[in-house]
Amino acid sequence: MRVLVTGGAGYIGLHASLELLGAGHEVVILDNLVNSKREALGRLETLAGQSVSFYEGDVRDRALLDRVFTDHKVDAVMHFAGLKAVGESTQRPLEYYDVNVNGSWTLVSAMVHHQVHCIVFSSSATVYGNPHEVPIREDFPLSATNPYGRTKLVVEEMLRDVAAAYPELSVVLLRYFNPGGAHKSGLIGEDPNGIPNNLIPFIAQVAVGKRDQLAVFGDDYDTPDGTGVRDYIHVLDLAEGHVVALERLHHERGVHVYNLGTGRGYSVLQVLKAFEAVVGRPLKYRVVDRRPGDIGECWADPAKATESLGWSAKRGIGEMVEDVWRWQSQNPDGFSGLSD
Ligand code: NAD
Ligand code: UFG
Repeated sequence: MRVLVTGGAGYIGLHASLELLGAGHEVVILDNLVNSKREALGRLETLAGQSVSFYEGDVRDRALLDRVFTDHKVDAVMHFAGLKAVGESTQRPLEYYDVNVNGSWTLVSAMVHHQVHCIVFSSSATVYGNPHEVPIREDFPLSATNPYGRTKLVVEEMLRDVAAAYPELSVVLLRYFNPGGAHKSGLIGEDPNGIPNNLIPFIAQVAVGKRDQLAVFGDDYDTPDGTGVRDYIHVLDLAEGHVVALERLHHERGVHVYNLGTGRGYSVLQVLKAFEAVVGRPLKYRVVDRRPGDIGECWADPAKATESLGWSAKRGIGEMVEDVWRWQSQNPDGFSGLSD
C-alpha cells in the first residue's frame, strides 16, 4: 500500500514509517517540523535503506493536501500530526483545536474528495478521562479532563459521523497508552523540545546528566507504592500495531477502535528502578505535590486487539528502558545540532 503519514517526522510517526517500509509499503510523509527535525527523516531513510517522499507543510493546508493526493495515489492515511502537551493545551486551547481538530477536518475532507478510503488515527487513553476501574476496555465511558483530551474526543466523534455518512470509509481509532522506547539502532527516538513533560524522557535526561533530579508527582495515590501507575508500551510494539491494524482493516468499512497497551501497569518508582538497573547507578529524585489533572492508575485491557488483530505488545519495561538509554546516551541532544 501507499500510505500518507502525517506527522511522520515525529516520535511515533518515524517508528511507524520504518515499520511500514519494512513491511513493503510505500510511505509519503507530511510534517511541518514544528516538533521534529529534518535530520530524523535522514535517519529514517538510512535505517530503511530507501528514500521517502517528504512534504514540509501543514496538515491544515488544503492546497498542499490536494497536491499530495494528486502526486501520489494514496491508499490509506496514518494521521499522527498534532500537538500533544496536556499542560500547554490548557494555556493555548485555540491552537490545540486548530491543529488537532481543524487539521483532522481538513485532512479528512481532502481524503473524501480524493477518494482515499482508510484513516488510522492516533487517539489516546486520555479519552477515558478518570476511569472507574482498571484495566480499561474500549467500551468504557469516554470523557476528557483537558483541552488536549477533548480534541482527541472531538476527532473520534467527527470520524464516526464521517464514517456513517461515507460507508466506503474504514476508520481505525488507536488509543495509545504511554508510549516509550526507541529503535534498537539508537538512531531514532523521542526528542522532546525543552523540558520533557513525560516520565520516560525526563528520567532519561536525568540519567544523561541534563537534569538534576526527577520530581515524582505525588506518592499518596491509592497504588502499591503511592506513585502513579501507567501502561508503558514500547514504540516498536505500537508501530507494529499500526501496520497490523492497517493491513487487517483497510478494506473493513466502518469504525474500529482498539486500545494499544500492554495490559500491565508500572509505578513511577518502578520505572525509575528499571532505569537505575540499566544505567547502573542510583538516580536522584524527590517527591513533590501531585500534578493537577493526573489520575492514580491507568492501564489497558488489550484483549480486543489480541483477539481480532492477533497483535499484542511483546516488549517489557526493561527492554524499553534499555532502548531509551541507548538512544539518549548516543544522542544526548536528540537530533539537535545536526544538519537541519
Ligand atoms: P510528536 O510531536 O513527536 O509528533 C507529531 C508530529 O506532528 C511532529 O513531527 C510535528 O512536527 C507534526 N505536526 C504537528 N503539527 C502539525 C501540523 N499542523 N501539520 C503538520 N505536521 C504537524 O508526537 P508523537 O508522540 O509522535 O505523537 C503522535 C500522535 O500520537 C499525536 O497525535 C499524539 O497526540 C498522539 N499520542 C501520543 C502519545 C504520546 O504519549 N506520545 C500518547 C497518545 C497519543
Ligand atoms: N510523572 C512524574 N514526574 C514527571 C513526569 C511524570 O512523577 O516528571 C508521573 C505522572 O504523575 C504519572 C506518570 O509519571 O503518574 C506518567 O506521566 P506522563 O506525563 O509520562 O504520562 P501521562 O500518563 O500523564 O500522559 C500520557 C500522555 C498523554 C496521554 C496519556 C494517556 O502525555 O498525552 O499518557 O495515554 F493522553
